[in-house]
Amino acid sequence: MNRIFLASLGVAAALATGCDNGNQSATTTTTTDTVVVKITPATLPDTAAFRDTTSAQATALYILKNGHAQAAVTNYGARLVSLIVPDKTGNPTDVVVGYDNINNYEHLPDTYFGAIVGRYGNRIAKGHFKLNGKTYTLPTNDGPNSLHGGTKGFDAGIWTGKQLSDKSVQLYYLSTDGEMGYPGNLQVKVTYTLTDSNITNHSYFNLNGQGSGTINNHLLQLNADAYTPVDSTLIPTGKIEPVAGTPFDFRKPTAIGARINDDNQQLKFGHGYDHNFVLNKSKDSLALAAIAEGDKSGIVMTVRTDQPGVQFYGGNFMKGTNPIKGGKKDDYRSAFCLETQHYPDSPNEPSFPSTELKPGQTFRSTTTFSFATK
Ligand code: BGC
Repeated sequence: MNRIFLASLGVAAALATGCDNGNQSATTTTTTDTVVVKITPATLPDTAAFRDTTSAQATALYILKNGHAQAAVTNYGARLVSLIVPDKTGNPTDVVVGYDNINNYEHLPDTYFGAIVGRYGNRIAKGHFKLNGKTYTLPTNDGPNSLHGGTKGFDAGIWTGKQLSDKSVQLYYLSTDGEMGYPGNLQVKVTYTLTDSNITNHSYFNLNGQGSGTINNHLLQLNADAYTPVDSTLIPTGKIEPVAGTPFDFRKPTAIGARINDDNQQLKFGHGYDHNFVLNKSKDSLALAAIAEGDKSGIVMTVRTDQPGVQFYGGNFMKGTNPIKGGKKDDYRSAFCLETQHYPDSPNEPSFPSTELKPGQTFRSTTTFSFATK
């Protein structure tokens, strides 16, 4: 692999308590024996389309650039809207799914495209947990469970944005005591930095270019010997089971779709892959979590994190009903998420690493997404 790093996007969160080249429209002209493919390079969305002044706080789009890559982040949900990196031919390719304007983020049914998810990433069973003997009740928004912080999680909040440099933006959000049922004030600071060498963020990746069709032919490697199996409502059973001999074994690079239709109860519960993988322990503070490769673009993304788990979600609930950037649709399984995190439903599973944050404590977390071509 050509290990020249094209770009790396670091997402750091500090919480006071958590080809058909898609966007490129490809036109094909056939001559006698050659095929000429013209690809339109991906471009950043229009910043004016991200300005909404109707709420107390305005929304905006922040642009990050380095020599190789460009990114766009909005303060609505601290969302990564675009991440443009070159493919193996040098063509700028937008590898994250998103909308072209703020209106769609605010008004279409929530997909969590590119969002910072909180106060609790993923599910809490039946919207209840106990802390210091008291039971807390959260709004349920996913069958019987509470998902991604409830009906109005961090993804739907307007954060205070501050551009720190042309490569970095910082976003701040105060989640007040009792918001969405959670106890205690929580100050959340997220920094997105685009670097040359090198939260749960809920970006939907398609390394062939967003909107370019299935991700089932992407190769994926997960640095996980075990995962947390779930019940039919996607709540972990509490067991930690080895991936060996199951369709959850991604320890070697494997096409995402290679075993997706296997007769396996866990795949049936998830409607495909929608599971938390237990990352192998490492001496490095930022351990390898995953490596994914676009089969058409040759773009390779490496994810490193200091978190104990990663939710691999294969876009099983994408329906093709949302109009994403460049006139495309969010088709079924046309993107995947690698959400670095603590395990789902941890407050109700004493054997999982604790997610309790006491007053005055700070929780910090860093995840990097690095891009190279093969
Ligand atoms: C969840 C999926 C859910 C998706 C929403 C993932 O983290 O595990 O079940 O549909 O987020 O975008």
